[in-house]
Amino acid sequence: MTAGTQIRLPAHLSHPFSPAGRADPYPAYDWLRSRAPVHYDAMSRLWLVTGHADCAAVLRDRGFSASAGQQGRARGEELPPSMLTTDPPDHTRLRAPGLLLLGPAAIASVAEGIAADVDDLLERLAGETVVDAVREIGSPLATSVFLRLFGLAERDRKVFAQLAQAASINLDPLAGPQVAALGRSAMAELSRFLDGHCAVAAPSPLTRLAADDRLTRPEMLGVLGLSVVGGWQPLAEAIGNALYWLLPRPEALAALREGGDELARTAMDELLRLEAPIPFTARVAVGNVTLPGGEVPQGARVLAVVAAANRDPAVFDRPGELLLDRTPNPHLAFGGGPHFCLAAQLVRQTGAVLLSRLARRFPAASLADANPAWAATMIPRRLRSLPVNLGGLPVDLDDLPADLAALPAEPGAVPAKLGGGDAY
Ligand code: HEM
Repeated sequence: MTAGTQIRLPAHLSHPFSPAGRADPYPAYDWLRSRAPVHYDAMSRLWLVTGHADCAAVLRDRGFSASAGQQGRARGEELPPSMLTTDPPDHTRLRAPGLLLLGPAAIASVAEGIAADVDDLLERLAGETVVDAVREIGSPLATSVFLRLFGLAERDRKVFAQLAQAASINLDPLAGPQVAALGRSAMAELSRFLDGHCAVAAPSPLTRLAADDRLTRPEMLGVLGLSVVGGWQPLAEAIGNALYWLLPRPEALAALREGGDELARTAMDELLRLEAPIPFTARVAVGNVTLPGGEVPQGARVLAVVAAANRDPAVFDRPGELLLDRTPNPHLAFGGGPHFCLAAQLVRQTGAVLLSRLARRFPAASLADANPAWAATMIPRRLRSLPVNLGGLPVDLDDLPADLAALPAEPGAVPAKLGGGDAY
């Protein structure tokens, strides 16, 4: 047998899929990464790949199939194809038009609107003392982003958020058959909603994608559906996860308040590194593959555990610490290779706008619960709730320095190879 098959996680460490391990998987990840970065886990019958070099190779190497890796997930024949579950050349054909929805021009077209939505959201919270950052900041922000991308009206907010929430079940790879069936029907419902909406949507990245003839209608709806399932909840939860790290550290909040746009951007990446909302993704080895940390046999079901790779001391100095200006930051929270998150730049930009404005508007914000609970679901990694004390008198947005009053889209800042998926 190959390296990593003989080694067992010691009894004092919780398995990352056990209830205790789901709450805090990092001790087990650290142990695995240092002793068996390519490890066959008898309990899950999956290969857990935890080293940074190994994860990056799994995501980039053609020896691993995303299509086979995702089979058996909560999808059905009646659902449109998804670029996430295809390999090149099908994947390349589906992904290229996706840039109309999430590429640099699309992001630039919604950036101002999203910044205005952030201001409105913070304005509404100004009268509150304690808010749940997950339900009252992350979720409405994610919904606003999709209303902008899809040209939906404010009156569609509630229905869209409900559909997105229901369809997000599809993200959880460990969902049982009944839950998976619910996920399939929620996805079909979301697809019908988006199908009906295309004709009446305001001009937006969605209408530009819908007018493009490179994809069939089901394929186009597949891109929209995947964006919602792959993006709405991860984006919502990324905000809670980020504040979980940021708010107990007043010096970090102060730095963010004083720093400019650049610090807000590096901070968002650093927060995604530390608490990746999508902690792992699945592939299947199409042949025997030799990774830097060991070999995996043909047919192996592999999890690239990016949450473990993101704390690999071989790549990240002081890996468990929050360094807001960490540069370079080759984290894998957005994946890598051909499936690199199509919306990475949108997420970075939206998160940076939210964090910098929140830090300025609520300089005394702090956690109202020092030990918030992590949810049992593994994807996305998320908090059940994050009570936040907004503290003291909010700062008026009009008092902000001009550079933070508007964080414009910077198409030039989008990785040149966004479409090719190799941002780092
Ligand atoms: C913090 C939020 C997000 C995180 C952490 C994240 C992470 C990821 C990861 C890890 C992948 C690769 C999965 C794999 O290789 O199997 C991915 C793919 C993808 N993401 Fe995101 N994502 C986020 C938000 C979004 C949003 C908001 C959207 C859409 C609006 C989106 C759209 C996509 C799409 C379309 C793909 C598939 C790309 C492909 O298969 O070529 N993501 N994302």
